[in-house]
Amino acid sequence: MDFIKKKRRGEKIVMITAYDYPFAKIVDEAGVDGILVGDSLAMVVLGLENTLGIGLKEIIHHLRAVVRAKPRALVVADMPFGSYEISTKEALRSAALLVKHGAEAVKLEGGEEIADVVKKIVKMGIPVMGHIGLNPQRVLALGGYKLMGKKEHQREKILRDALALEDAGVFAIVIEHTVPDLAAEITKKVSVPTICIGSGPHCDGQILVLHDVLGLSDVIPYFAKVYADLKQIARDAVRKFVEEVKSGKFPSLENR
Ligand code: KIV
Repeated sequence: MDFIKKKRRGEKIVMITAYDYPFAKIVDEAGVDGILVGDSLAMVVLGLENTLGIGLKEIIHHLRAVVRAKPRALVVADMPFGSYEISTKEALRSAALLVKHGAEAVKLEGGEEIADVVKKIVKMGIPVMGHIGLNPQRVLALGGYKLMGKKEHQREKILRDALALEDAGVFAIVIEHTVPDLAAEITKKVSVPTICIGSGPHCDGQILVLHDVLGLSDVIPYFAKVYADLKQIARDAVRKFVEEVKSGKFPSLENR
C-alpha cells in the first residue's frame, strides 16, 4: 500500500472527504492522496445532528457517485454506525458490500474492542483504515465531541488502541481530536501512517472534512481551516440570478 511507503519516505499524506461526483473530481484534480466517503456526510450534506442516523444505504449511494469520478486517489468508505458492531458476520458482509460498490478500503471507528473484526476484514482481502481518539459514532456515550487523551487512563487506552489496530493489519490510522503530543507519540511508535484531524502537526498525514475547508458547513470545528468561502460565493451567484430574472436582464436573446 502506497501510504506505508509514503511514511517510510517521510512524505506527508493528504486526505479529504468527498460525497459526490463533482467534488470527487475536484479534490482528485487538486492532488489529494485519498478520498474518504465519510459518515460526516450525515451532518454536512444531509443536515443531521450527528453521524448516527445513516446506514450502509446512504454511504453506498454517495460512494457510487464518488467512484464514478474515477479518482486516481485511494477511495476509502466509512463503515457507518451499526454496520460492524453487532456481529463479525455482519461486519464482513458490510465491508464486502462497500467494496462491491467501489471502495478500495474501509474505515471503522474504535480500537482494541474491534481489533478482531478488523483482523478478519483484512484477512478477507480488504484494506482497513483505523480511527481512534475521538470517535464521533460514540458521541452519546462521550457526551459531546471532546478533546481526547487529556487524562492518563485515556492516553494509555488510545495508545493501546493504536497498537492493537497495527497488529490487526490496518494500513493507516486516523487520529481524531486528540492531544498533539499523544498523536506524535503514536506516530513514532507505529509502523503504519497516522492521518490526523484536530490532533496537531506531528502525524504522517492530515485529513479534513471538505465542507469545512470550503466554508460550507454550518458549524466548523476550531481545528479545521477554511480555505474558501463557497457559501458566500454560491449565495452571491444565486442572488444575482434572482435579481436578473426579476429585472428582465436574464435571459437575453443569446441565452435562449
Ligand atoms: O466521516 C468523516 O468525515 C471522518 C473524518 C472526520 C476523519 O471520519
